[in-house]
Amino acid sequence: MKLRRKELYGVALATTGVALFSLYQLNYVESHIMGSIIGTFGNSWLIARVEQNYTLPANYIIDPDHVSYPWIGDPTCQHFPVQFARNHTRPKWALTSFPGSGVTWTRQLIEGVTGIYTGSVYGRADKPIVLIGNHSGNTADLDCECTILIKDHDIAGQVPVLPIGSINGVTVNETKKNTVRSSAYSNRGVLLLRNPVDAMFTHARFLATSGNKTGLVSEKDFSGPRWEEYVDYVANTWADHAVGWIESIHNGTVLFYERLLHEDTAAELKRLLDVIHFRDPHHPPVDPQRLDCALKHKNRKDRKRLKKPMVPLTANQRKKFESSIERVQTSLRKKGWPLLPVYLYRKDS
Ligand SMILES: *[C@@H]1O[C@H](CO)[C@@H](O)[C@H](O)[C@H]1NC(C)=O
Ligand SMILES: *[C@@H]1O[C@H](CO)[C@@H](O)[C@H](O)[C@H]1NC(C)=O
Ligand SMILES: *[C@@H]1O[C@H](CO)[C@@H](O)[C@H](O)[C@H]1NC(C)=O
Ligand SMILES: *[C@@H]1O[C@H](CO)[C@@H](O)[C@H](O)[C@H]1NC(C)=O
Ligand SMILES: *[C@@H]1O[C@H](CO)[C@@H](O)[C@H](O)[C@H]1NC(C)=O
Ligand SMILES: *[C@@H]1O[C@H](CO)[C@@H](O)[C@H](O)[C@H]1NC(C)=O
Repeated sequence: MKLRRKELYGVALATTGVALFSLYQLNYVESHIMGSIIGTFGNSWLIARVEQNYTLPANYIIDPDHVSYPWIGDPTCQHFPVQFARNHTRPKWALTSFPGSGVTWTRQLIEGVTGIYTGSVYGRADKPIVLIGNHSGNTADLDCECTILIKDHDIAGQVPVLPIGSINGVTVNETKKNTVRSSAYSNRGVLLLRNPVDAMFTHARFLATSGNKTGLVSEKDFSGPRWEEYVDYVANTWADHAVGWIESIHNGTVLFYERLLHEDTAAELKRLLDVIHFRDPHHPPVDPQRLDCALKHKNRKDRKRLKKPMVPLTANQRKKFESSIERVQTSLRKKGWPLLPVYLYRKDS
């Protein structure tokens, strides 16, 4: 059955300036969206909306208890759900990255364009990546084979904790170093890479505010011996993590945060979806409307900090990052994968 929004939302009579609404049919999806919209924004958006047809197959909603609508409030995009795929239809694929590499943002893009949740090995402890609409991805049973990708930083050692004003030591677990968890995914993985200096500051701000992604950070948090230790830790661990995964992924690819953000986002997403064998069941290979919506909303601010302090690195620290970048380039070259887009890296970092 095809649903026509025209029939659902009624007619706007511009000539008289009066808007009349009639809801002829409401199925679950419609009432769900309508309820949320009316609750959040009142009716005003309906008056302005243009007539448009949407065709969603009747079997579109797989599990009504775990559907979310990331684009509520946008008349042309809000009808697109994000949900789990049917159980045992998507083998496990890792989405691995050093913390601070933009994985939350990347998950939003991938979920938007595929309509399938990404999972997380951190489960419910990981904050939802979309603040509205009951995002359920993090509740996924990791063996359900019902997610598009699974977030897994797979970073050696204990996750460091940096309360405001003091940076606690970073305990690196030497035993775990260089052991990569890709076998848990039958070596299927997508490695997300970002300029390690930017990833480091993003991660440090996160740690300095005890995980509050919008909390305030002071430049004073980034000084002293603990900071020095932390910078060394990141420069080494970032490269260890990247090289470990590049060498152990059998099926997969590398994805660059800066290219997704600044270059051809659509082409990067399509390349990714092709590699992970995703085909949109209703509009193969990729639903162009979903893609448009994902791109239109790519600057959403669910978890953005207003102030992003940085401190200059010493010449020695810069040199460490340069050699880490070179290690990763060498590994990428050997693998035959695209190289880090260093031309897009900020010159001040
Ligand atoms: C909606 O569908 C009707 C009939 O199928 C068609 O005449 C109309 O042009 C369509 N409108 C849009 C915006 O696609
Ligand atoms: C998938 O399996 C889980 C149990 O692992 C179950 O709770 C869930 O309802 C299943 N989903 C579907 C759509 O059948
Ligand atoms: C989210 O879940 C809560 C509790 O289950 C429910 O009351 C609310 O209507 C849901 N919101 C949306 C947008 O689905
Ligand atoms: C270090 O990692 C290894 C392998 O994951 C684990 O067995 C060990 O318990 C860890 N040690 C500490 C101190 O966390
Ligand atoms: C996060 O930080 C912001 C800005 O300081 C503050 O308004 C908000 O309440 C904090 N959230 C939590 C959960 O602490
Ligand atoms: C993984 O790669 C191997 C070898 O290239 C290929 O035969 C296999 O079909 C791939 N599997 C998946 C799930 O992509």
